[in-house]
Amino acid sequence: MKNKMIIRAALSLTLLLTTGIMAQTKRIVLETAHTSMVLTVGSNGRLYQSYLGEKLVTADNNKLPRGKGAYVTGGMDDQLQPAIRVTHTNGNPSLELFYQDHQVKQVDANVSETVIKLKDPQYPVAVELHYQVFAAEDVIKAWTEIHNGESGEITLYDYASSMLHFEAKDYWLTQFHGDWAAEMKMQESKLTSGIKEIDSKLGTRAAMFQSPFFLLSLNKLSDENTGEVLAGSLAWTGNFRFHFELDQSNSLRVISGINPYASAYKLAAGKTFTTPAFIFTYSARGRGQASRNMHAWARLYSVMEGDKPRMILLNNWETTSFKFDEQKLVSILDDVNKIGADLFLLDDGWFGNKYPRSNDKAGLGDWQPTRSKLPNGIGFLIKQAQVKGTKFGIWMEPEMVNPKSELYEKHPDWVLRLPDRPENYQRNQMVLDLANPEVAEFVFNTMDALIGNNPGLAFVKWDCNRFMSNAWSPYLKQDQSNLYVDYVLNLYKVLDRLHKKYPHFPMMLCSGGGSRIDYHALQYFTEFWASDNTDPLERVYMQWGYSYLFPSITVASHVTSWGKQSLKFRTDVAMMGKLGYDIDVSKMTADELAFSKQAVANYKRLSSLVWFGDMYRLVSPYEENRAVLMYVNREKSKGLLFNYNLNVREHETVARVRLQGLDPKKEYKLEEINLAPGAKPVFPDNGKTFSGDFLMKVGLDICSWHLKALTSAVIEISVL
Ligand code: GLA
Repeated sequence: MKNKMIIRAALSLTLLLTTGIMAQTKRIVLETAHTSMVLTVGSNGRLYQSYLGEKLVTADNNKLPRGKGAYVTGGMDDQLQPAIRVTHTNGNPSLELFYQDHQVKQVDANVSETVIKLKDPQYPVAVELHYQVFAAEDVIKAWTEIHNGESGEITLYDYASSMLHFEAKDYWLTQFHGDWAAEMKMQESKLTSGIKEIDSKLGTRAAMFQSPFFLLSLNKLSDENTGEVLAGSLAWTGNFRFHFELDQSNSLRVISGINPYASAYKLAAGKTFTTPAFIFTYSARGRGQASRNMHAWARLYSVMEGDKPRMILLNNWETTSFKFDEQKLVSILDDVNKIGADLFLLDDGWFGNKYPRSNDKAGLGDWQPTRSKLPNGIGFLIKQAQVKGTKFGIWMEPEMVNPKSELYEKHPDWVLRLPDRPENYQRNQMVLDLANPEVAEFVFNTMDALIGNNPGLAFVKWDCNRFMSNAWSPYLKQDQSNLYVDYVLNLYKVLDRLHKKYPHFPMMLCSGGGSRIDYHALQYFTEFWASDNTDPLERVYMQWGYSYLFPSITVASHVTSWGKQSLKFRTDVAMMGKLGYDIDVSKMTADELAFSKQAVANYKRLSSLVWFGDMYRLVSPYEENRAVLMYVNREKSKGLLFNYNLNVREHETVARVRLQGLDPKKEYKLEEINLAPGAKPVFPDNGKTFSGDFLMKVGLDICSWHLKALTSAVIEISVL
């Protein structure tokens, strides 16, 4: 053993020499259009982060300081939080990582991937740092692969996706927290010395209380157009952790990855563990640019068919809840056509026979249509939709089970449940044990049968209404420490197989509202349900919050009967996202129906701006009693402006709003749209033309002419 180690050490030394890293100036440069990240191999063989920020003219610069450890290991000489902490087969709790080599692969004209190989000189444990660089979008996607070359199992106590270091005077963290019906509450705070963590231990429905993304402002709190800011997001549909540590010399380290809480990961001999990706963008010009970078990247590289159009759907959850039958659903199919939507989404309550799903107490797991409610099954409804020229989608919650179900009776061992403890329910349900491949197979088969046996089915809403508690996998038995991670990995396997089999099948990601939103899951989903709370006043804040990291095409925003605001206000708020409906169309007055039809037509005409345009947040609801934002297309020939007066007072002074993103030289015509039936536009500049220069420097009075609480205006901006 000792001899082997000496040989290994000698080998690594030779490698170090042959790759020339004894010279301290070996640099690895990652560059996007506006950002540089520079890593340096030190004379001691370790890897350092020397720079991350605005693009350097000469990034390969000898004058750059060596910086801080790029992926600090636990058990050696660094006493702060490590990126990785491993116990070897023989119990040694330390890891040393020396640079071996690196490769840069050009994936296409815009994307490159740099892989840096690090290795312990004494133990056959290797780590690869992967950086996928998206040049035009200024986005870097970082993840790590940890290889166990030992003859026995090693344990990973920490296994970060990324470690980043910052040097600034002050650091400001913007985070998003929430609860059911209260998603995306934005909070900003100055980091103080010591540790701040944002994490989740919830397993499923992991983002219920905290979200797996943040903004980090350097030196001063960034605003829309000024300040240095990093927007970061972990692509992981389970427990996550962001660790911010401000050290004794005012340097900040940010460690992002799976939450290692209760998850010391056992990695078998010969196996490689791949961490989820941490996706980040750095902007020296404020958070607006950071958001636009993320949006552009997400549409092209992350969200399923993020660059393709979406369907407008009418959902029945808010109007029927569990109470419907075949006849009722057929009549709703007509409503889809009445407002000009594209698809009917049948929500919860359509399945279960021995234990019909007539409320949330029974039926989850038994995915057969309830015969008493739907005697002719789902196929009949799909056919009816086709006859009426519309499409049909359906709600599922395939990872869950009610104890009152045939599935539970048949497979009590398929459920996460602690031995010797009472069962713990949320919404009367339990989580299936996806760590068990047989259960994962059941989930896949359920979804496969649903989609495969119903060829006309056009959409699925995939829900997940509880987090894990009292979690114990009967399959994993005595050793539970891989449960939280393996659950998610197996969920991905299911989603991957489905996606391969039905590559264009659109799905909505839902979790009792918006409690499970991340960029890995979104590879399989075309949109997410942002919140069960559809009160438009609340939604202005929530949708504003999502907009920092997610493009509007993903933010499902429905017109419902929540809130007491006018139909126009409700509609205008939903139109800033991916518009849909969950309202009783049959109860609309003729005027309401006419308004809605017109709004849907307007949206269809202009949705490419909301879906694919650049978004500019102009006035924040966190700063004023109003919210103003706009979208502009790439050609700068068309824009859409949304103004929401929130709790404004009648004589409040409201400043003109300077627009953004237009071409200063172009002339634009302004037109107020989404007017109530018969109403004349009151926007004083309606029909007038202005140069982009004027609109961006002098701005528009967009509020004072309708200065009443909970009123709104939508202005179409078209080049002449
Ligand atoms: C969750 C979803 C809702 C609805 C219900 C059905 O709460 O967020 O939109 O689908 O489940 O039970």
